Amino acid sequence: MATKKIKSAGAAEPLPKNAVRNCSDRPMPGGNPYKPAVATVTEVIHETTAIKTLRVVLDDPAVMASFHYEPGQVGQLSVFGVGESTFVINSPPSQKEYLQFSVMQAGEVTAAIHRLATGDKVGVRAPLGNFFPWRDWRGKNIFFVGGGIGIAPLRVIMLHLLERKADYGKISLLYGARSPRDMAYSCEIEGWLHNPDLDCTLCIDAPFEGWTHKVGLIPNVLLKLAPDSTNCVAVLCGPPVMIKFTLQALEKLGFTPENIVTTLEKRMKCGIGICGRCNIGGRYICVDGPVFTLNQLQALPQEL
Ligand SMILES: Cc1cc2nc3c(=O)[nH]c(=O)nc-3n(C[C@H](O)[C@H](O)[C@H](O)COP(=O)(O)OP(=O)(O)OC[C@H]3O[C@@H](n4cnc5c(N)ncnc54)[C@H](O)[C@@H]3O)c2cc1C
Ligand code: FES
Repeated sequence: MATKKIKSAGAAEPLPKNAVRNCSDRPMPGGNPYKPAVATVTEVIHETTAIKTLRVVLDDPAVMASFHYEPGQVGQLSVFGVGESTFVINSPPSQKEYLQFSVMQAGEVTAAIHRLATGDKVGVRAPLGNFFPWRDWRGKNIFFVGGGIGIAPLRVIMLHLLERKADYGKISLLYGARSPRDMAYSCEIEGWLHNPDLDCTLCIDAPFEGWTHKVGLIPNVLLKLAPDSTNCVAVLCGPPVMIKFTLQALEKLGFTPENIVTTLEKRMKCGIGICGRCNIGGRYICVDGPVFTLNQLQALPQEL
């Protein structure tokens, strides 16, 4: 497969009309950018009542072996006869055995994905979009803030950086959910809490029997933790209301828009810059994003 330089969040430029992007970087059966590669579900993990994690393997072993992506890139996952939806590939690129997607049930496609079982076939159009500019972050402290299913894109970039810990300063995670029952990746969280390379803080919205971590809304917990903004990049993902108030908290803590990075979840369709479904002003989320600095977002029309 050709390895084309993919644009990072730090280097977005206006997209020419009718551009088809990222196509040479991914499997494209029959040269058709809309045709998914067929994959098999190899594992389904029940994270919470609303979230399931699927591990899938592309059926063509040669395509699977050469599949390359960067942390933050997404895929269009399809259930045949139902439709396709966008999800971040949340397994780190070092994981070569499968691609992992965590899916929160929202509507028709995600409900069909939740009905899938091991051995079922799905379609995958991936990788799509840009990715976290992790190479530019070398030597910096990184503070991840994730809410709800927003932990999925943070998981992949966090694991990717932890594999390269020597290149970075302090790596921290603040992960919040409504209650302990709403926390995804519960099998991994204990490991995150005990990882000497990671400063992990968990919070839930309201007190819960037996809960020994923080209680409070993410922005308030963040203000109390008061991470030092010097030489630090904040990376956040979560529901819009969390993003809104977390941005305010980060600005109070002295983070500048250049050092705040987020990944957007605006609706996508074609994923390749053709249909215009995902545009904000002159930018398309599917090719110029989904990863943006706050600086870049502030330059866009306020449509979000
Ligand atoms: C770049 C990107 C990455 C994403 N990564 C993930 C992920 O890793 N895990 C995950 O669970 N979800 C993710 N999403 C959201 C996911 O694509 C939607 O939840 C999914 O498309 C819903 O499909 P559906 O057919 O089940 O729901 P629909 O029937 O299409 O919609 C159900 C309800 O959800 C609303 N809705 C659906 N999609 C969105 C959206 N993108 N933004 C706001 N509201 C929406 C609809 O308005 C409707 O109210 C991502 C979206 C994008 C654009
Ligand atoms: S232009 Fe079609 S989804 Fe972005």
